[in-house]
Amino acid sequence: MSRESGARDALGELRRTHAAAEITASLVGSEVVLAGWVHKRRDHGGVIFVDLRDRGELVQVVFRPDASQEAHARAGELRSEYVLLVRGVVERRSAETVNPKLTTGEVEVEVTELRLLNAATPPPFPIEEETDADESVRLRHRLHDLRRPPLQRAMRLRHALYQSVRGVLAERGFLEIETPMLAKSTPEGARDFLVPSRLHPGSFYALPQSPQIMKQMLMIAGFDRYFQIVRCFRDEDLRADRQPEFTQIDLEMAFVGIEEVLEVLEEVMVRGFREAAGIEIERNFRRIPHAEAMARYGSDRPDTRIQLELVDLTESFRGSAFRAFRAAVDGGGIVKCLPIHDAQDLSRGDIDRLEGFVKKELGARGLAWIRVNEDAEWQSPIVKFFSDEERVAVAEKTGARPGSLLFFQADQASRANGVLSRLRTDLGQKLGRVDGREWDVLFVVDFPLFERADDGSLTYAHQPFVAPLEEDLQLLDEAPERVRGTHYDVVVNGVELGSGSLRNHRSDVQRRILEVLGYAKADAESRFGFLLNALDAGAPPHGGFAFGYDRWAMVLAGLDSLRDVIAFPKTQRGQDLLMDAPGEVESAQLDELALRIVRPPSEKS
Ligand code: AMO
Ligand code: AMP
Repeated sequence: MSRESGARDALGELRRTHAAAEITASLVGSEVVLAGWVHKRRDHGGVIFVDLRDRGELVQVVFRPDASQEAHARAGELRSEYVLLVRGVVERRSAETVNPKLTTGEVEVEVTELRLLNAATPPPFPIEEETDADESVRLRHRLHDLRRPPLQRAMRLRHALYQSVRGVLAERGFLEIETPMLAKSTPEGARDFLVPSRLHPGSFYALPQSPQIMKQMLMIAGFDRYFQIVRCFRDEDLRADRQPEFTQIDLEMAFVGIEEVLEVLEEVMVRGFREAAGIEIERNFRRIPHAEAMARYGSDRPDTRIQLELVDLTESFRGSAFRAFRAAVDGGGIVKCLPIHDAQDLSRGDIDRLEGFVKKELGARGLAWIRVNEDAEWQSPIVKFFSDEERVAVAEKTGARPGSLLFFQADQASRANGVLSRLRTDLGQKLGRVDGREWDVLFVVDFPLFERADDGSLTYAHQPFVAPLEEDLQLLDEAPERVRGTHYDVVVNGVELGSGSLRNHRSDVQRRILEVLGYAKADAESRFGFLLNALDAGAPPHGGFAFGYDRWAMVLAGLDSLRDVIAFPKTQRGQDLLMDAPGEVESAQLDELALRIVRPPSEKS
């Protein structure tokens, strides 16, 4: 409208006609108007070349004095990241100047008019595919980082995945419904982020760790298929695959059993892989029972492409003369082995380094090993303690032969499995013991309802609302540890992409589970009373799932860090370096919230 009213905007008369990526040979001879950033400028005496960048793609524009004296003169002032609008004619490049690396590499645009829209400070690092800039520098200068092609691609992939998921779920009759961010604590195993209430001094909202309880409310409220692409907040120790705020594809269905939920998950995944990344994965995902995953791989999120498996030797070392193994078994722990055959490439120095690593980083007590040399002799710091029967058992169960290297853990099951599963993936990759499949997609099923915490108490394996299998209901009183849950996970290439279960729709079962978990009656009522009452208001059987959206995008993009698929991620220490958050607030704001900061003594001046 501004042009018609005579008012001028920064673009003047010019309007972009094409994106950089669209400038190909089919446009030779046409006049185009392009907009973007100066990626690189090269001055070749009389002629100036500029790589113009737009949406992560480049097109070469050329300034020649005979096409426009004025544009050529002004092009001399251009610097990296200046913002331009150019009008020009698409021309074919001479054969020797074609750039096969660019989609636009056969052509260039001869500029007849240049409009400089803005100058720019020099970029802190080159806007290239690869960068050696430190991650903290990249995060502080995130807008420059986001201009780089990998992040442009990652954001496009995320976008495509949103569209795919929304499409599939809408087709299948799911309603997208929002739930509150200012909410009440929901237990997903992390600490809550709290938001103080001004109107209710001393009271706090909790940012949701997930919309778990709200989606159950929606089922009871009669929306029998719900989904939401939703932000979740968890104050936990961060790793490469965890962020304090992250996104879930959260869904819930009423009147279903496990099979109906898994069928929807397969559809969402097959279509998401295809529509966001052009990848075909096969339906009928393999299912691995939790107990089998732990036994063979030591992990509930195994990468089954790695062709190494663990062997349980607990029974063989009950009452052993080797103190370390016997103590573990006597203490209720396990003895497990990771056999690696043809392991000549691993040197004694490698073994010592691995032992140092698992002790320091994974809390292992040691790393016992046996190496079988070419003469079938066992070299090892521990076999001298073994009885003949123990030697035979180890040889038989591990299939040890000349060239084999056996690693042992004797410890509580969780740590022993954790250490060996880490060695399994690290050494499997290092030694190339990987089958050729690009995608290892599976459901892990049949999780137990409860597991033992380190202090011996019973805790939930997933979250407190998981329904037990109907046929195990009577075990809740007699032998809660043996109760099987309805929990299932989706695992892709060793990454847990998501989790779900059927839920308790009967309040008596839910109350009993909270009791087993050690919640006193009053405590259960005050924390979950609203859910328990809701279950009594006519709750249908229901169940659902949540994908970690960022993890899925990370896996699809073939990356190892969530920070590379989130526009504005937080550091390992939970900081946003671009905005400089978290930050201090005015004392007047604290007064309004009736809050006072008590600094730890070490910080007091
Ligand atoms: P859960 O806690 O397993 O289940 O979370 C579901 C999925 O969310 C992802 N995820 C994370 N991603 C990034 N950073 C984090 N800090 C983080 N924490 C979790 C993971 C995980 O598999 N309400 C239940 C789901 C349900 O039962 O329906 C829940 O939140 O990919
Ligand atoms: P030690 O008897 O403590 O000298 O240990 C002998 C070997 O067994 C060393 O290689 C230790 O690393 C290893 N070891 C000790 N305790 C354990 C354990 N709990 N699990 C696995 N290996 C162990």
